[in-house]
Amino acid sequence: MLLEDNMRILFSSQEISQRIMEITKEIDDCYQHNDAEKSSPDYKKPVALCVLKGAAFFFTDLMKELHTDFEIDFIKISSYGSASTSSGKIELVHDTYIDVKGRDVLIVEDIVDSGNSMAYLSAELKKRGAKSVRIATLVDKHERREQNIVIDFAAFTLQQGFIVGYGMDYAEKYRSLPAVYEIMI
Ligand code: IMP
Ligand code: MG
Repeated sequence: MLLEDNMRILFSSQEISQRIMEITKEIDDCYQHNDAEKSSPDYKKPVALCVLKGAAFFFTDLMKELHTDFEIDFIKISSYGSASTSSGKIELVHDTYIDVKGRDVLIVEDIVDSGNSMAYLSAELKKRGAKSVRIATLVDKHERREQNIVIDFAAFTLQQGFIVGYGMDYAEKYRSLPAVYEIMI
C-alpha cells in the first residue's frame, strides 16, 4: 500500500517485533502460576481475547511469541463516533465463543485511547464471572484518557496523535501496513 504525504513512520516493524519479544516475557511471567495449576482436575487454560478488528495483527504476532498456553477467542466491540474519536457508547458487535466464567482472561487491544472500550469490556467480562481480567495493548495513548483503568502490558506509549497501520485504520484504510504511522488528519 502506498504511503501518503500526511503520514510519518512512528514504530517500524523491527521495533514492533522487539517490543513484542519484551512484553511476551512480562506476560509469560505473569501467567506462570497457571503452569503450577495445570495438574488440578478443573484447570482451564487462560484465554487470550483479541479485540477485532484493530488488534488482529498484534494478537497473532504476540501469540506466536508467548510460551503460555492460551486458548484464543475473538470479540468485536464498536464505539460510535467519528472516524477518529470514540463516543463512549460501546456496543458488543460480535461476542466470544468461550464462556469466560472462572477463566483468566487477557484482553488484547490495538490502542487504548479514552479507555471507554476497555472499561466496558473488563466490566462485562468480570460480570460474566471471569476469574481475572488483564489488558495488553499495542499502544497506550494518554492524551484523551477518561477512565481510570489499569493497562497491564503496553508495547508502546504515546502522548497524542492518530495512528494507523499494523491492524489500525482510519475509516477502514491502512490496516495492512506492516509498521505504525502517525497520520495528520
Ligand atoms: P477508546 O474506547 O477511546 O479507548 O478507544 C479505543 C478504540 O478507538 C481503539 O480500540 C481503536 O479502535 C480506536 N482508536 C483510538 N485511537 C486510535 C488511533 O490513533 N488510531 C486508530 N484507532 C484508534
Ligand atoms: Mg480497537
